[in-house]
Amino acid sequence: MAKEKLVFFCDECGFETPRWQGRCPSCGAWNTLVESKVVTGGPTSARLQTKAATANIGKKSAVRLDEIDTGSETRIMTGMKELDRVLGGGAVAGSLVLVGGEPGIGKSTLLLQICKDLCKNRKVLYVSGEESQRQLKLRADRIKLQTDNLFILSETNLNDILAAVSLDPPDILIIDSIQTTYSPELTAAPGSVSQIKECTLALMGLAKSEGITTFLVGHINKEGALAGPKVLEHMVDCVLYFEGDRDYAYRILRADKNRFGSTNEIGVFEMQSEGLKEVPNPSEMLLSGRPSNVSGSCVACILEGSRPILAEIQALLTPTVYAAPRRVATGMDYNRAMLLLAVLEKRAGLIASNCDTYINVVGGLRLTEPAADLPAALSIASALLDKPIGDRVAVFGEVGLAGELRNVSAAELRLTEIARLGFDRCILPRRGTSRLKAPDGLELVRVSSVAEAIRQI
Ligand code: TYD
Ligand code: MG
Repeated sequence: MAKEKLVFFCDECGFETPRWQGRCPSCGAWNTLVESKVVTGGPTSARLQTKAATANIGKKSAVRLDEIDTGSETRIMTGMKELDRVLGGGAVAGSLVLVGGEPGIGKSTLLLQICKDLCKNRKVLYVSGEESQRQLKLRADRIKLQTDNLFILSETNLNDILAAVSLDPPDILIIDSIQTTYSPELTAAPGSVSQIKECTLALMGLAKSEGITTFLVGHINKEGALAGPKVLEHMVDCVLYFEGDRDYAYRILRADKNRFGSTNEIGVFEMQSEGLKEVPNPSEMLLSGRPSNVSGSCVACILEGSRPILAEIQALLTPTVYAAPRRVATGMDYNRAMLLLAVLEKRAGLIASNCDTYINVVGGLRLTEPAADLPAALSIASALLDKPIGDRVAVFGEVGLAGELRNVSAAELRLTEIARLGFDRCILPRRGTSRLKAPDGLELVRVSSVAEAIRQI
């Protein structure tokens, strides 16, 4: 007999408890326990599963590692090189990919657009719980998608989705979105922790057993994390975030987790009136519209995965009117920016303690690489001294606490990109770069400390 039981799940970590508490005992988050009804004792109850497992003893045995046949993993090319690179060279057949992002950023557009290529020799089922079939058709017309292999289902009931899949199994399944999908066996509302867990589990089982490559769309919450329990991210093979400012047309796709590739790669897209367009040369896009000869602006060369990218870091320092100065860092780690301010003060004698400091990375890019240290420090120094760095100067290098500059990886690759974009001067760390040959037309300015770098501007 199926019985209904009241339990509480933590929104953050999926912890389950029979009683409500203000603080989750597992992850320590406050006010995250939500009420949910689960059905126990039914056909899927743990009791029956244990019974079945006992009956299966001896039927399934462990296999020696070297006896497991992996074959060659099949990669499915989505036809969008930027997405393929972020996935680590196309989507692995039978994998589960979660695409998260703010509403209106272009998740549905991206997934409908990859159908263009996917449908060439595969069958794709697009399940939308958010839009009607007519709306999807209008969007497909807008992005000029014409194919016989794309099937659209407007459905939110998990059982109906699973039935449609087993009736006519597709090669690729797209679920838009996991938060609107619900299992009628659970009484909890769609989008709640238990529903998301249950639906993802069922879809994961389907992807792994039938080898159906599945793309899930996930909403994100106010803090920018994927809505739903953390277990959602543990269950899937890849977590991709689609980011960008809705005021800009540019969108950046970033891998947060990837079981089949690196998480350093980014893909850049531009939202146009006919859908998303790939941006193969992000540096040109990030540097367009740069002000000429103003202080506080510095071009940094950073490495995103295997790709060098040039981006502009801007700093603005104004005399403060508050007791404690305001410090704002957008696009780079706040603590890293504070550390650079401290190094500038102690090692280069640039005092910014009576100034409000604003640092911004142009184009919505987020810099996490240490190579962005020196350009960020130079933009602050340039703003403070009111001395422009120059339009054709690019900078990279890691800054140590003693004010020393450390070498960064792939310096040669960076120099090639800097020269390709027509820069004629590059300020870089002396250490480890003495053997580097300068590309034609690029002057290398090797420096060993922040203070020495500042003297070069
Ligand atoms: P959408 O894919 O619906 O976002 P999400 O699924 O992440 O919520 O994107 C919708 C936005 O993109 C909407 O504001 C309109 C815009 N858009 C274009 O600018 N050009 C297009 O060709 C399409 C299809 C959408
Ligand atoms: Mg959508």
